[in-house]
Amino acid sequence: MANVVIENLSRDFGSFRAVDSLNLNIESGRFVTLLGPSGCGKTTTLRMLAGLVKNTEGRITIGDTVVSDASRGLFVPPEGRNLGMVFQSYAIWPHMTVFENVAYPLSIRRVPKATIREKVAAALEIVEMGHLANRPAPDLSGGQQQRVAIARALVFEPRVLLLDEPLSNLDARLRLQMGDEFRVLQQRLGITTVYVTHDQSEAMALSDDVVLMNSGRILQNSAPREMYLQPKSRDVATFFGAPNFIELTVQKATPRPEGDFTLDVAGAGGRGHCLSAFDPGEGGTVTVMLRPENFEILVPGEETQGMAWEGVVKSVTFRGQTQTVVVDTGAMELNIEAGPLVELNVGDQIHVGAALSAAWAVRDA
Ligand SMILES: Nc1ncnc2c1ncn2[C@@H]1O[C@H](COP(=O)(O)OP(=O)(O)OP(=O)(O)O)[C@@H](O)[C@H]1O
Ligand SMILES: [Mg+2]
Repeated sequence: MANVVIENLSRDFGSFRAVDSLNLNIESGRFVTLLGPSGCGKTTTLRMLAGLVKNTEGRITIGDTVVSDASRGLFVPPEGRNLGMVFQSYAIWPHMTVFENVAYPLSIRRVPKATIREKVAAALEIVEMGHLANRPAPDLSGGQQQRVAIARALVFEPRVLLLDEPLSNLDARLRLQMGDEFRVLQQRLGITTVYVTHDQSEAMALSDDVVLMNSGRILQNSAPREMYLQPKSRDVATFFGAPNFIELTVQKATPRPEGDFTLDVAGAGGRGHCLSAFDPGEGGTVTVMLRPENFEILVPGEETQGMAWEGVVKSVTFRGQTQTVVVDTGAMELNIEAGPLVELNVGDQIHVGAALSAAWAVRDA
């Protein structure tokens, strides 16, 4: 297992900068996901790690080896980097059996036959495919092919595993199942993993850290919970769902032991408290993010530590698992997701609130 250090990594295609001065420190054994919209530079970054694309600028260090340093013209080719790779199209060879597919990386490294048999058996055991070793590749299901691809990436005991949208060819049910299985496997092996996806819930479910990218740059790098509940900016907040943003005036900022602030805020027909990473100054304005699922419907007069509003139900859409409720507070509209058991009708006068931990000030940039 190895750590990965990426310093000022850039890649230009002609005059277009696909990856722009990326800095990333991936500790050994971590599961890190590069997430972001199509074209933001995820695959290019992964391919630079693999050595399949040359970086125009910057340096990549894997373990204690510098594998690429543009300023010194140093570049270790893919086969010298000892990394396992799984791509979107698994590239399982159809004319080979499961065993032969997994054995391939070892055969080309001229490993003795007896060792190959041992290592392939062990790799297939890990992905629970030992019983299908002799099956021709075309007779496998999508999920089984994916496991063969993972076994083939693991068989030569790579220092780091790189995966580019490995689940995107599977149906929704199998994608969830394989994702969960893969996460368990990764934790058991403790293998440093860099995973690429544009699926936000997959990224959050699998990763220790999510690196959210846009236009070749990192917008935020943090644990999934923090990224979702305490996004650094409005752009990060909007990447995950459709939060409410409310402009409020700051009356007071109180530092907390956690290193952030509780803000007393007012405006838009309500008042209360929110959390913030920064102090906007007394009299300043902040944009407070409230996610639809984090509202509660309060009984009249009920107090909350966070924010609260009086309003009128403008519309209700029943969706099964949730109901989307639009509440008109007079000063603005709030989009709220309520559980299916709450009975609400258009015109109802309601009192809604959000806990302090649900109200988070975001920067506009
Ligand atoms: N060989 C190339 N020549 C020119 N431009 C390229 C090349 N490879 C990638 N790009 C451009 O670089 C940008 C980043 O591409 P990349 O494949 O890294 O995106 P991505 O984040 O993986 O997107 P997706 O989610 O669609 O796979 C895109 O605008 C793409 O068109
Ligand atoms: Mg891609």
